[in-house]
Amino acid sequence: MDVLVVGSGGREHALGWKLRQSPRCGRLLAAPGNPGLAAVGTCLPIGADDADALVQLAMEERVGLVVVGPEAPLAAGLADRLRSAGIPVFGPSAAAARIESSKAFARDLMTRMGIPQPEYAVFTHGGEAQSYLVGLAARGVTSVVVKASGLAAGKGAVVCETIAAAQQVTRAMLDEGAFGDAGREVVIEERLVGPEASLLVVTDGYVVVPCLPAQDYKRIGEEDTGPNTGGMGSYAPAPLVSGEVYAEALTTIVRPALRALAEAGTPFVGCLYAGLMLTAAGLKVIEFNCRFGDPETQAVLSLLDSDLLELLLAAAEGRLAASDTHWRPEKAVCVALVSAGYPGRYDTGMPITGLEEAQVLPGVTIFHAGTRRASDGALVTAGGRVLNVVGTGSSFACAMDRAYAAADCIRFAGKTLRRDIGLRVRE
Ligand code: AMP
Ligand code: GLY
Repeated sequence: MDVLVVGSGGREHALGWKLRQSPRCGRLLAAPGNPGLAAVGTCLPIGADDADALVQLAMEERVGLVVVGPEAPLAAGLADRLRSAGIPVFGPSAAAARIESSKAFARDLMTRMGIPQPEYAVFTHGGEAQSYLVGLAARGVTSVVVKASGLAAGKGAVVCETIAAAQQVTRAMLDEGAFGDAGREVVIEERLVGPEASLLVVTDGYVVVPCLPAQDYKRIGEEDTGPNTGGMGSYAPAPLVSGEVYAEALTTIVRPALRALAEAGTPFVGCLYAGLMLTAAGLKVIEFNCRFGDPETQAVLSLLDSDLLELLLAAAEGRLAASDTHWRPEKAVCVALVSAGYPGRYDTGMPITGLEEAQVLPGVTIFHAGTRRASDGALVTAGGRVLNVVGTGSSFACAMDRAYAAADCIRFAGKTLRRDIGLRVRE
């Protein structure tokens, strides 16, 4: 069966790499893909947002499964378009993707289902939001999180240390259009404290196959300092999420959310990502995403023992069975190599060397994120997050050492990385 992966990041390379290992995988196509995907399949110059061209491609090439990586095409209805053309697709409808594309929708769904979450309020009117913040200050609240309700490429949540800062952010979003349409509706939330974990579950809308729990490093700097990024690293399985905690999360969070979507006539088919915080008052939902996490997926899929194509196809065709998925009893650590200046302004086009050496090291897999081929065929940097280096091994110490040994082999001007990915769980 031919498979099409939509997207071009490290997550999509990891998906394509694992799908390709299936004995059932015929051609692996990627749109638009990246040089890493080009090594395991065929990349086509079609953007992830070009639904017309993607549907046409999937029909002409008689693709047996489309796997959509990023949230924006899902929120724009790509899965609906493919499904109406009769093509099996792993990824939710636009209606089900609202669990990510509207934070206000997600919070209200959680309220209806009694899913544990921070206190919050939703505003479209600047004056009302300001009065609410003044009320919070009067109650002694100092710190809140202000979020653009719509999709903002991971940059729409601002943790505010003071109410004055929250007032400014709220004004920028609601009155000054700082986040465009995404910020025309704002969610103001109680600021929770505690460690975070990412739970990714594969589902056909009803049956749930949990992936190993993962931990993501969002901040640019070591010890979680500096601005948020698209992700500086990850590890799996996160020891913080014991079997008991995972079971509780499935019962109190994941299944009720899926039930709400199914009961609304919009069952969620795809990967539901629950971003959780383990607070002193128990598990609470920070956010839901409607797709695989990046870079959690790179660590998690490195430990998947069973057939990813079978799993995603079963979900797409509504015949998922809970028992057919196996994970290697190992650890995985994923380190992102990023461009100097990221997440701010950075230069691209830097030649990358040392990849051949790095990828033959034991227990190492390298996923491309922001790379491209220059006209002479040389591999050069093409984005903020350039490469994801994954080490696997019998312990976190081993997985970490392998990832960093490979990361140190790779060279490009301005290469930047965090040295502490996995450190907190290193035995
Ligand atoms: P989000 O875009 O909703 O994932 O938020 C991005 C990051 O902001 C999360 O990973 C958290 O670290 C932080 N965050 C979001 N919401 C809250 C909250 N209610 N309390 C504390 N931190 C939060
Ligand atoms: N790693 C966070 C995300 O994928 O949204």
